[in-house]
Amino acid sequence: MNKRIIERLVREHRTPIQIIDHEKIRENISTFKRLLPRVQAYYAVKANSLQEIVRTVYRNGGSFDVASLFELGLVLEEIKYLAPEKMQHFIWNNIIYANTMKQTETLHQLNLYSPLVTYDSIGEMRKIKEHCPNAGLVLRIEVPDEGSIVSLKDKFGVEVEHAIPLIERTINAGLRVEGLSFHVGSQCLEFNNYSEALKLSAEIFKEAERKGFEIGEKITNRYPIKQLDIGGGFPVKYKGDEPSFEALAGRLNKEFEDFPRSKYAILAEPGRFYVANAAFLIMKIIGKTIKRGKVRYHVDDGLYHTFSGNIYDHQIPTIKSIREGREEECTVFGPTCDSLDRITDNALLPGNLKEGDLLYAENMGAYTNASSTNFNGFPPAKIVHINQ
Ligand SMILES: Cc1ncc(COP(=O)(O)O)c(C=O)c1O
Repeated sequence: MNKRIIERLVREHRTPIQIIDHEKIRENISTFKRLLPRVQAYYAVKANSLQEIVRTVYRNGGSFDVASLFELGLVLEEIKYLAPEKMQHFIWNNIIYANTMKQTETLHQLNLYSPLVTYDSIGEMRKIKEHCPNAGLVLRIEVPDEGSIVSLKDKFGVEVEHAIPLIERTINAGLRVEGLSFHVGSQCLEFNNYSEALKLSAEIFKEAERKGFEIGEKITNRYPIKQLDIGGGFPVKYKGDEPSFEALAGRLNKEFEDFPRSKYAILAEPGRFYVANAAFLIMKIIGKTIKRGKVRYHVDDGLYHTFSGNIYDHQIPTIKSIREGREEECTVFGPTCDSLDRITDNALLPGNLKEGDLLYAENMGAYTNASSTNFNGFPPAKIVHINQ
């Protein structure tokens, strides 16, 4: 984005502004489809749950991974004009409720739609049996996630050695086990995690078959099709030296050969990959101090706002200046009255910037505004959509 456009946007909207470029989202959707043609991608709404983004994904043929009734509502908003039969069809074929732990009240609501749901424990299976017996179940297994920036392994996924007994009990309870899911951790930089997870899944499917446990969806298929949900984790190039999605896709396509199309459907839940590079944040310097010889800029967005991903997502975005000058290492603080509100100590910025100068950060679309707050009376950045 060039300087003149940034200055025009700032005149029009005032800072902080988060610009969401829908053309980029469409590009990401089509890259994912082109490089992983066999995979049905369910956009993980949690990465950025703006209704406008859900709409763009929907209009571009997307499916959805939701983790709360609120997120389900965002998708239902897009399909509310469909005839009831078509709407139900969309829910069955294009929505997965991928939160392994659901409140009883949520399960009651979900039972009205009976979508695919994930689970990973005997207790959750019993709750589903009682409150949402029409759902199709996908068992989430624990898989390695070394080298992924956000670990999900400890909280989610049944230990592999308990998968078969849990499948047996689920089937004996009269529920439908439609497949397996895993998540290798978000921003996965170690592709062996996927290979290992696929190997573990193949072993569980094989063992279930050997024991005569029927896994798969038989309602819309003549033969039961097993769902293999490979989750999210697809890496984004924040710094530029991260391993590429192309390399991962090439490897996955080969490994998918162990899961023939006649028996398996492959799903994924990309979150970050669809939206991270689709947002651009512009902020303004509201004040400057120098302490122990180091320049410290205070800006009008921070850790409680669009930079909340510094904490929750472990991503420290690169902050750049519109105005050029001799760069030095600076600290950048957010606007709140809390010392935790420190965006970075390592921003390479001109040391001679002044109050009112503009800074910006790219790749601010995933796990950013999604966890922004109103803390201390500072509202979240204004969101501006372009190329919708
Ligand atoms: C169940 C589930 N699916 C998908 C995602 C999206 O992952 P990513 O943004 O790494 O693609 C997450 C992220 O936490 C998740 O918990």
